[in-house]
Amino acid sequence: MSVKGILTFPGDKSISHRAFMLAALAEGTSIIKNSAMGTDVLSTIRCLRDCGINIKNIDKNEAHVSGRLAFPDKDLFCGNSGTSARLLTGLLTGQGITANLTGDESLIRRPMKRIIAPLTEMGARIESLDSHLPFRINGSGLRGIKYRIPVASAQVKSCLLLAGLGAEGNTELEEIAPTRDHTEIMLKELNVNISTSADKNVIKLSGPCKKLPEFSVNIPGDPSSAAFFAAAGCTKDSELLLKDILLNPRRLGFYRTLQRMGARLEMMEKRQRQFGELTGDIRVRPGLLRGIHLAAEEIPGIIDELPLLAVLATQAEGKTIVKGAAELRVKESDRITAIYTNLKNMGADIEEFSDGFSIIGPTQLTGSKIQTYHDHRIAMAFTIAGLFCNEPVILDDQECINISFPEFFTLMSRLVK
Ligand code: S3P
Repeated sequence: MSVKGILTFPGDKSISHRAFMLAALAEGTSIIKNSAMGTDVLSTIRCLRDCGINIKNIDKNEAHVSGRLAFPDKDLFCGNSGTSARLLTGLLTGQGITANLTGDESLIRRPMKRIIAPLTEMGARIESLDSHLPFRINGSGLRGIKYRIPVASAQVKSCLLLAGLGAEGNTELEEIAPTRDHTEIMLKELNVNISTSADKNVIKLSGPCKKLPEFSVNIPGDPSSAAFFAAAGCTKDSELLLKDILLNPRRLGFYRTLQRMGARLEMMEKRQRQFGELTGDIRVRPGLLRGIHLAAEEIPGIIDELPLLAVLATQAEGKTIVKGAAELRVKESDRITAIYTNLKNMGADIEEFSDGFSIIGPTQLTGSKIQTYHDHRIAMAFTIAGLFCNEPVILDDQECINISFPEFFTLMSRLVK
C-alpha cells in the first residue's frame, strides 16, 4: 500500500476557535476564511451565537462575524470542545457576561480548576460543584494578575489572556514550557498591548481593551490534521505534498520528530505570513524509521499527535520513549490508556507509564477492533495504523472524527492506491 498526491486541508482548529472569539470582540464585520468546520469549532460558533453574535455564511467557508456580546438566555453547550469551554470562559468573564457553561460526557470530566483558580484570583466568580463543568460564570470588574501557569497548557494561557483583555491593569503569565502561541500572535496583529519576553516564557498584556478592530483572516491548513497524512506518507513508495499548512514552530513537533526518526520531510516556508502566522508546504517521503526518545520539553509541541506517533513507533527500528506526557490522561479520552489498549491488541510491544509509554519496534501489526473512546484523534491514528496491517481495523465509532476533521475519510479515499 502506498499513498501519492497533493493535498490541501481545512484551516487550523486552534486558530479557527480564536478567530471567531476575537471577531466577537471586534468592531464592524470580520471575515474568516477556510475555518475548520468540525463540531468543536461549531460549538464555539453556537455559543457565540447564543451570546448575540451574528455569524453568517459559514457554509461558504467565508464567515462574516458581527455584533456585540450579550448575556445568553440559555446554557452555553461546548460539546466535546475543551478549547471552546476554556477560552470562552476567559473571553466572557473578561467582558462581564454572566452565563452557564456545560459540555458532553467527556468534557464535563475534564479538569477546569486550572482556569477557575486564576480567574477567581482575577476577581471572577465561578460557581461549580467540584471544579468541573457545568459551571456558572460572572466576571465583572476583573483585575490583571501575575501568574505562573502550573501546567503546560495553551488553553489555560489563552483563557487568561482573553480574560485579561477585559481586566484592569497588567496580566502577566509565565509558562513552564512553550505552548502554542496563536492567541499572542493574533492579539499582536490586532494591535493589543501585548509583549513576550526574550526567552518567550513570559507574556504581558495591558488591559482593558474591550473592542478590537475588525479583521479578515484566511486560516492556513491544520498541521494536526495534515499529520495523519504525513504518517500515511511514511508507507513504502509513497509521496505526498501537503499544501498551505500552518508552519508555526510550536505546532511542528510531530514533523520534526518524523524527520529525526528518518522520514524524508521537507518544509518549505512561504515568504508571506497569514495574519502573523508562518505557512508553507510539506513534502513527505518515506525513510527507514528509527525509534526516538522525546524530552519532556518537546511534549507540548507534539501533544495532539502523540497517539499517531505511537502508531508510527511500532514501525520504527528500536525503542521509542515518551515520558512527561501526563496531560494525555486528561484529553478527550485518557489517551495513554487508549494507545496502550489498542496497540497491545494489535500485537505491539508497548509498556504503559503513568505519564507516557515506550514501544519497541518494528512489529507487523494485526488488524483488530479499535476502542476509540469516542476520541477523534484515537480514531484517526488507528485508521492510519490500519495502513500497516494486512487485515482491516474496525473503529467502534467513526462519527467522532467529525469533531475535528469531517473531511478525513474523503481525503484518505482519494489517496490510498
Ligand atoms: C489547544 C491546546 C491544547 C491542545 C488542544 C487545542 C488550543 O490543549 O491539546 O487540542 O487550541 O489551545 P491544552 O492547552 O489543554 O494542552
